[in-house]
Amino acid sequence: MQSLHGNYESYLALRTRLPADQGLNTYYANVHRDWSWGDEENQASMNQLRSVLHDSADLGNVLVLGAGACRLAYDLHMQMDCAATIAMDFNPLLLLIAYKVVNGDALKMYEFPIAPRSLEDDAVLRTLSAPEVVREGFHLVLGDALRPPFAPESFDTVVTPWLIDIVTEDLPVMAARINGLLKPEGRWVNFGSLAFATPERTRRYSPEETKAIVAESGFSDPYVAEATIPYMCSPASRHGRQEKVFSFAAYKERSAEQPPRHRALPDWIVTGEESVPLTHSFRSQAMTTQIYSFIMSLIDGKRSIKDMALVLEKQKLMTREEAEPAIRSFLTKMYDDAQKQSGF
Ligand SMILES: C[S@@+](CC[C@H](N)C(=O)[O-])C[C@H]1O[C@@H](n2cnc3c(N)ncnc32)[C@H](O)[C@@H]1O
Repeated sequence: MQSLHGNYESYLALRTRLPADQGLNTYYANVHRDWSWGDEENQASMNQLRSVLHDSADLGNVLVLGAGACRLAYDLHMQMDCAATIAMDFNPLLLLIAYKVVNGDALKMYEFPIAPRSLEDDAVLRTLSAPEVVREGFHLVLGDALRPPFAPESFDTVVTPWLIDIVTEDLPVMAARINGLLKPEGRWVNFGSLAFATPERTRRYSPEETKAIVAESGFSDPYVAEATIPYMCSPASRHGRQEKVFSFAAYKERSAEQPPRHRALPDWIVTGEESVPLTHSFRSQAMTTQIYSFIMSLIDGKRSIKDMALVLEKQKLMTREEAEPAIRSFLTKMYDDAQKQSGF
C-alpha cells in the first residue's frame, strides 16, 4: 500500500473512520418519515424549534449538523428567515436522496418497517418527494460533524437535531466545537433525545447536566423546551416511539477554548510506527483468546464438555469444577454466533 510511505497527512485519512454503530442503512427509515408519511412528525419537529427560537426567526447563515435525510433543514430553510442553510451529514445515502428530493425529483424507494403491520407491509414502495423545490441558498455537505470543514465563526446559527447524544465525542468537547463554528452572539439550537449510550457512564448526561455544560461552554443559560412527540411511527409498522424531546437555544457569549482536531483512532494504529500499548484490557483479551483457541482445538466431534474439562485440569489451567461451566458458557456463545450466521 503506497500510503505506508506517505506523510502524516495521508495517514490521517485513515482516521476518518465510521463509528462502529453507524452504517449506510443506520437511519434509512428516516428518509420515509422525512419525505413520505411523516407530516405530523415533521411538523412536530418544526414546532419544537419554533418554541425555542421564539419570534426571532432571522437565523442568518445556518449549519445543520447530522442533518440526516434533511427534512428539518429543508423546512427551516423554507419556513424561516435563513440567508443560507448548510445541511451536513456523513451518510452519503441520506444526502443523495435529499439532493434529489429537494430539487424536485420523486423517488421510488422501498420502506422495510421494523414490525410490519401485515404481510404486504414487509416492503412498502413509497414515493419520496418534497412539497416544493427548495429555494436558493440550500446546500448539502458530506462531512464529519466532529471535523467540520468550515472556517471558525462562519455561522449565525448551528442546529443539532437528534445528534448530541449519538456522537462519540464527549458533550463538553462537542459544545466547544459548536461554539467555535458560531459567530459572536450566534445561536446554538438543539433538538432531540438525551439517550446518551456511551460506554463511559459518566458521559451520559441528564437534562440538568446538559444545560450546565452548554452554559459552561461559552453560551448563555440555554432556554429549554420539552415536549412529548411521536417518533418514527410508520403507518406500515407496529413499532413506533413517543419521545420527550429536549430542545434548547443558547447564544454564544464568549469564545470557548477550541479542542484539538478529533481523532477517531490513536497514532499507533494510524501510522503503524509506534509501539502497540500493552493495556490491561489487551492483556486480558490475549489470555482469554488463548484459552478460547485451546478449547476450540479440543472440539474433535468426540469429546464432551466433561472430557474437555478434564483436559484443562490435566494442563493445570483450571480445576475440573471451574472448567466445566466456563467451557459451557464459551460454547453457548459459539453456538449462538453460529445460529446468527446461519441466514436463510
Ligand atoms: C439520529 S439521526 C438524526 C437525523 C436527522 N437530524 C433527523 O432529525 O432526522 C443522526 C444523524 O447524524 C448523522 N451523524 C452521526 N454522526 C455524525 C458525524 N460524526 N458527522 C456527521 N453526521 C453524523 C447520522 O448519519 C444521522 O443522519
